Amino acid sequence: MGAVDWDVRNFHGYVTHRGTSYNAYLVQGEKTALVDTVKAPFYETMLRHIEEVMDPGELDYIVANHAEPDHSGSLKRISEKAPDATIVSSERGIPVLRKYYGDMDLVSIKETPSVDLGGKTLSFTPVPMAHWPDSMVSYIPEDRLLLSNDAFGQHLASEARFNDEVDQAVLWREATAYYANILMPLSRTVNNAVKALAGVEIDMIAPSHGVIWRKDVGDILAAYKRWVGGESKPRAVITYDSMWKSTQEMAYAIAEGIGSTGAEARVFNLTGTHRSDVITEILEARAVLVGSPTLNNHVYPTVAGFLAYMRGLKPPNKIGAAFGSYGWAGGAKRFVEEQMKLAGVELVENDLDFSYKPTEEEWRRCREFGAAIGEKIKH
Ligand code: FEO
Repeated sequence: MGAVDWDVRNFHGYVTHRGTSYNAYLVQGEKTALVDTVKAPFYETMLRHIEEVMDPGELDYIVANHAEPDHSGSLKRISEKAPDATIVSSERGIPVLRKYYGDMDLVSIKETPSVDLGGKTLSFTPVPMAHWPDSMVSYIPEDRLLLSNDAFGQHLASEARFNDEVDQAVLWREATAYYANILMPLSRTVNNAVKALAGVEIDMIAPSHGVIWRKDVGDILAAYKRWVGGESKPRAVITYDSMWKSTQEMAYAIAEGIGSTGAEARVFNLTGTHRSDVITEILEARAVLVGSPTLNNHVYPTVAGFLAYMRGLKPPNKIGAAFGSYGWAGGAKRFVEEQMKLAGVELVENDLDFSYKPTEEEWRRCREFGAAIGEKIKH
């Protein structure tokens, strides 16, 4: 019943190259429930979709799996169209929904852990911090269908509705980017949610963003297990910015050293690459190396933005290092190291902090350091 948003390119700081969708579902037994709604500007689209199937005034339940406005933004308006519908949310969702939308009659899943629609059951499980404290999932045992809200989503606009109908490379890129940029800092609580679902028989997962996983559902569950566990590949992501190509030269030399060991290096300049794309690359990498020139005794601004973003996302189980160049006074490398530590990265010490332009000998030291990192991350 939801809406495809082909245009959105910024989801709280994360670049959504392929838009997204706000998925809402009708579950029909003898009674009918609407599970989740859409972002406010898409209300009319959702309403039209519902009206194609039924009179919205006859809805018996509206389920708010999550209070974030991309899913609850049309709750108030659709509830006014369906005055007899019981609105169900998690206990922790109730105050949030009232804060956003004013006083509303809401029923907690504490009192109503499931609803019998007559031929279909909707059973609710809180999954706090997968994505917000209020998050919950709905499960239909008769169909072995999980309505997972944010978990297992992708920011992927498509007229296709199922995972086997879209380009697989695009699908997995977007599922990976979504986990890295939204759920990675919540790995522990997402792990709890995945564990809570371990005994549940699931044939299909219908998230609130992107396509529905109806084929090879085990693949996305296995990917989440790897991601929550911080599993990585023998790969290093080097991200940097540069004023006069000195830090760039160092980044390339380090990459060459890593590559010489058989480990993989991927290099991203932060002027040409959005920080959220770099974070997507970091999710499955074992090492993160960050390079910055010193500008006015401080870190380069694009690098500072990336570090602030990474510090919040706290990629688990990474080793890393800082490097950089300066003119007459340094400072950037020390700042980068402090921020990397705060992001939870285990630092590998080095003295790659060179004035003006790396000499041949300094270039060689970068390459050797890269080789040392490569040896560390090779399996
Ligand atoms: Fe898609 Fe946490 O909202």
